[in-house]
Amino acid sequence: MLSFSLFLYVGSVAAESGIDAWLRYAPLHSANSIPSLPSRIVSLNTSVNDPVHIAGVELQKGISGILGQNLSITSHEADSDSSIVVGTLIEYSNAYGHSAKTPSLEADGFWLNTTGPTVQILGQNERGALYGAFEYLSMLAQGNFSKVAYASNPSAPVRWVNQWDNLDGSIERGYGGPSIFFENGLVVDNLDRASEYARLLASIRINAVVVNNVNANASLLSPANLEGLGRLADAMRPYGVQVGISLNFASPAANLTYGNLTTFDPLDKGVISWWSNVTDAIYRRVPDMAGYLVKADSEGQPGPLTYNRTLAQGANLFANALKPHGGILMFRAFVYNDQINESDWKADRANAAVDFFKGLDGEFADNVIVQIKYGPIDFQVREPTSPLFAHLQNTSTAIELEVTQEYLGQQCHLVYLPPLWKTVLDFDLRVDHKPSLVRDIITGKRFNRPLGGSAAVVNVGTNQTWLGSHLSMSNLYAYGRLAWNPADDPEAMLQDWIRLTFGPDPTVMKTITSLSMASWPTYENYSGNLGIQTLTDILYTHFGPNPQSQDNNGWGQWTRADHKTIGMDRTVSNGTGYSGQYPAEVAAMYENISTTPDNLVLWFHHVNYTHKLHSGKTVIQHFYDAHYEGADVAQTFVTQWEGLQGKIDEERYNETLFRLTFQAGHSIVWRDAIANFYHNLSGIADAGGRVGNHPWRIQAESMTLDGYVPYAVSPFEAASNATGIVTSSNSTTGTASTTLNFPNGTYDLAVNYFDMMGGNSSWTVSINNHTVGSWLGDNVDSGRLGHAASVYLDAHSATRITFRNVTIAKGDVLIIVGTPDGIEPAPLDYIAILPKGVVD
Ligand code: GCU
Repeated sequence: MLSFSLFLYVGSVAAESGIDAWLRYAPLHSANSIPSLPSRIVSLNTSVNDPVHIAGVELQKGISGILGQNLSITSHEADSDSSIVVGTLIEYSNAYGHSAKTPSLEADGFWLNTTGPTVQILGQNERGALYGAFEYLSMLAQGNFSKVAYASNPSAPVRWVNQWDNLDGSIERGYGGPSIFFENGLVVDNLDRASEYARLLASIRINAVVVNNVNANASLLSPANLEGLGRLADAMRPYGVQVGISLNFASPAANLTYGNLTTFDPLDKGVISWWSNVTDAIYRRVPDMAGYLVKADSEGQPGPLTYNRTLAQGANLFANALKPHGGILMFRAFVYNDQINESDWKADRANAAVDFFKGLDGEFADNVIVQIKYGPIDFQVREPTSPLFAHLQNTSTAIELEVTQEYLGQQCHLVYLPPLWKTVLDFDLRVDHKPSLVRDIITGKRFNRPLGGSAAVVNVGTNQTWLGSHLSMSNLYAYGRLAWNPADDPEAMLQDWIRLTFGPDPTVMKTITSLSMASWPTYENYSGNLGIQTLTDILYTHFGPNPQSQDNNGWGQWTRADHKTIGMDRTVSNGTGYSGQYPAEVAAMYENISTTPDNLVLWFHHVNYTHKLHSGKTVIQHFYDAHYEGADVAQTFVTQWEGLQGKIDEERYNETLFRLTFQAGHSIVWRDAIANFYHNLSGIADAGGRVGNHPWRIQAESMTLDGYVPYAVSPFEAASNATGIVTSSNSTTGTASTTLNFPNGTYDLAVNYFDMMGGNSSWTVSINNHTVGSWLGDNVDSGRLGHAASVYLDAHSATRITFRNVTIAKGDVLIIVGTPDGIEPAPLDYIAILPKGVVD
């Protein structure tokens, strides 16, 4: 039981860029007295690059920051002296001539004992000692001085992050700026950020980073890059973080310096020795390389199927090369055909992983881990648990999560992910009618596997906030915690992160907890409901809504929506048979619509829009209600956040306010796009009378236009009334004016416009010739928001700006003047004149 003393938090005014994340070591000022700490740190290893030495330095830095006490570091003290001793169990017994009394520790585990005059922080290995030091500092930083003595062991040996960094410095699905590892085809010279990243990762007990994109470039294996990888590994090693790399399966035939084969057949002798030579060369420079990550036969990536070899034969090629060096092969289960035919009722991408892998169970080498995305499709807002976890009983497995919010708002929408992840980690697959929680499968317990664990796609970049958004960092923090202990509670982890990131102010705690815990259900409400998937544009940016992009293509993320029905029939009796991939008890639940939970009903069943859910609502009414509820809640994120002004530093306060304000506006874009799309398709009215009914809006195309012309937006649902306005040329200013016909009063004035890539238009809105506000459409081009950008007027570029408390009288004349820039023709959608409390 943790206890927290009452502390006043100081330092709230100093600007903070976010670079220190949860390792700020901000000063605590005690209302009571701070218990006295030992006056020295004994670090049982003095070599500068050893994690134990780093642990000592970190303790010194942290205690100085948190408590203002400057402790010296020594390498040995008499046992009886009061000190903070940090080291490995072996170093301890060597130094003191007797072993420490601790419960049994596993690799990377630690013992923390604060009960005596000496604080003991002892790791089973160096890394464990460093983890223990971070644990102790986390307690102190949270004002927790309770006396504790406990051992903490990892749930699984593999606790990795994957970066999808390209060698040119870009990051696939990265929203926090360019790579901290690569630029211009090579590893960067200055690796300070890489070692700071390793420090952050060590503090959450992550032990390896795969540094390059799964869509891998063979030139990573060039001599210059191997030298660079060596430097990267050197930069991260002191923090106990190993480097791993993604491989391109066809590298032997990719014309590299090591010899150019004409084949990449995994059973070819030349190919086998090619990989073994390359692997040996890498280990000469990086003796502790963690291993390889391979995406094969997926989304255009080469693989063993080219040569009619099995995926296991492909995986074992690398596993055998890694084996002498102790490396691990993470082999991705994300294998599917991306050109399937929707007119085939039985075709189903969700079936792919089990279809490809189940017959291979037991055929993988023992240093292979099959890395399985949490759901059978692709990081959607809600998916059922991947059934593959139930099929690989003689193969080690790891779950793949995604911290980078590819389909979930790209860090421009707040979505705290652990509650979503827990729907999978805590899911009981009931293999052989026995408890079979996914978290027990990936940690090796359920099927008695020696390896296993977690990987998460993270994609931090050079942005000072790492991920592009301060609040998104809770996802990275909690990922590490869950990789260590997948039974941890999402809210408790969140609250530790809040105290560490923003201090102990109870209002700050309450507000950020409330926002974060509401954020995933809110995002699900205004994106895709009932298991239909996220409904974002899957063919372009993966950011804004575009429900029709799911269907009529080979990607297999189909909704099968027509004017009467929606959903994928994945039953065995009449559909794709996917539900039959689960063990019997789970299969029976999903096969039958009456036992399928509402939140997955459209994943498993094809129904009429008028189908009644367990909740009593129809499917279509649920869509409408959820979208309105979601957007309403997103508006409250802004007002809740505003209650924190002055309670956290201005820099993080303002940057977060900016993002939450954007989210509030974009949630309305989502709400309207999805509600209009299904309203148009089904022809069924919203019982609440809201869809298509906007009493407080003035459509831009209905204003008096001069230099502006109407523009039919595609897809139609991305604009109010399907129409926006654009300047008639890219060099002429446009004016849109209207006489207001609302009762006299004070309103919020919202303007929906489009912020496209390729130009920074400017607008000024005025009432009776008094300027209400001016703004620049530069969120996208400046990279301030960091999401994938669009060059069109669509639901990715659709943005809202709001001017608060504007006095309006009936008969006032409102004018917006737009000045185009680049390819951006100062596009506008509508104006909303909003009385207090109205969301329109
Ligand atoms: C998604 C994502 C791709 C990525 C792929 C993968 O499809 O959009 O960018 O390469 O997943 O996980 O391999």
